Amino acid sequence: MKLTLETRSPVDARADVLIVGRHAGSARPPAEWVALDHKLGGRLSAMLGAEKFEAKLGQISQLYTGGGIGAARVLVVGLGDKKRGDAEVVRRAASAATRRARDLGASSAAVFMPADGLDARRRAQAIVEGALLGTYRFDRYLKEKSSKAIAALSVIEPDRRSHAAARDGLRLGEVWADATCLTRDLVNEPANVVTPTHLAGQAAELAKGAGVSVKTLDREDCAKLAMGAYLGVAKGSEEPPKFIHLTYAPRARARKRVVLIGKGITFDSGGLDLKSADGMLRMKDDMSGAAAVLGVFHALPRFKPPVEVHGLVAATENMPSGTAQRPGDIVRAMNGLTIEIGNTDAEGRLTLADALAYAVSEIKPDEMIDLATLTGAVVIALGQSVSGVMANHDGLAERVLAASRAAGEPMWRLPLHDEYKDGLKSDVADLNNVSSQRGAGAIVAGLFMRDFTAGIPWAHLDIAGTAFGEREHPLGPKGGTGVAVRTLLTYLTALGGQR
Ligand code: BES
Ligand code: MN
Ligand code: ZN
Repeated sequence: MKLTLETRSPVDARADVLIVGRHAGSARPPAEWVALDHKLGGRLSAMLGAEKFEAKLGQISQLYTGGGIGAARVLVVGLGDKKRGDAEVVRRAASAATRRARDLGASSAAVFMPADGLDARRRAQAIVEGALLGTYRFDRYLKEKSSKAIAALSVIEPDRRSHAAARDGLRLGEVWADATCLTRDLVNEPANVVTPTHLAGQAAELAKGAGVSVKTLDREDCAKLAMGAYLGVAKGSEEPPKFIHLTYAPRARARKRVVLIGKGITFDSGGLDLKSADGMLRMKDDMSGAAAVLGVFHALPRFKPPVEVHGLVAATENMPSGTAQRPGDIVRAMNGLTIEIGNTDAEGRLTLADALAYAVSEIKPDEMIDLATLTGAVVIALGQSVSGVMANHDGLAERVLAASRAAGEPMWRLPLHDEYKDGLKSDVADLNNVSSQRGAGAIVAGLFMRDFTAGIPWAHLDIAGTAFGEREHPLGPKGGTGVAVRTLLTYLTALGGQR
């Protein structure tokens, strides 16, 4: 999609479809709306009246202009009640309307959203994110692909004083949405394509970006580093494991060193504790955390925050075989802790344990954030649209939550309740990888991982419910959502202290 800034008024904007946002209620409409309605001989307001248009968020009404203005059609999209500065409303409205414009066969669209307290940069960014994410498709493997697509989108910003800010927002919106779509693609690709080797190849591609470099460790390298927990999971698979370490170094002196860790189980069969057919069906998405980290690294050289960022993925499959890890096995993680394998299906925390230990000893970061499709329990607790956050540091947790709110990706903090650690005791090792107690599965997984953080500020995002949509959602179709990419980009931007 080619993106441009349209500095003319909505009346003069040239496009197949003009998309105009409209708040609910009787408040006086903005001057641009009045001018547009006037130019169309009052037909716009007549249409809304006749259709009893309530301007509910995402509600759409359309008018064929038959000339008179620059666009052949107008789509009015509801923005709901006017709340000051709600970027998510703009994203969702832009998403719904662009999708409709595409399905009507339009190949170009111009979008005008009335001011609501969002500054011009954030407004333009939200429009672009909504349009790009809302019209995302994964059709690589379909013989019959839809030929309908919006090839050109312009964001209307008639106010001359806001042009620079709007251009900025346009660019950021494109970078962030592209990163999210890269993540979605990787999640949607099946596990016979996205192997650990494939992820390492993707990382190598990303390392062509300015300031980005990559180091990939294979099984022997990891053995030398004593990553017994990670390699135990990898034992059962014919696909070789790849431990990926991406680094982004800013040109200017870095204000902080941050590690992002993504769970990269490219397929989770459960191992010898094999999942049921139903439980296994979607397990190609068990690398969504890794995909999000790769998405972030796609964006980093394009918006250049003054932060040093490391991305770690301990990629492997979790398979059952004659060489697979057994229940009852004892492994030793890189930090020296021994782990009794209570259940081979609790593999994510084992791979993350070694990634965290590696970060602590090899990178010495100021902060660490991991993203993982870690537990079915978080889906029970928070459902499919809220991710779980756990942290050993309140300030970091608060900053991650603030970023998630700005990005429109709901997250909720769960307590790392110390008492539940008792359940992770083992008679024969320092830890068991599953709890002997009932309940709080998401928290228990967080408590397990906390033992590998060495007290460095750390936040854990359990995205098991949110990484993959079983239904279409406001910003995209079924399938990989790309969750947490925009939250992390917002968080890194805030760390840089800019904007
Ligand atoms: N990848 C799964 C978690 C998962 C479940 C993700 C459902 C998405 C949807 C993880 O590796 C797993 O199997 N977790 C087990 C842990 C249990 C054995 C303690 C679970 O949650 O059932
Ligand atoms: Mn599992
Ligand atoms: Zn898993």
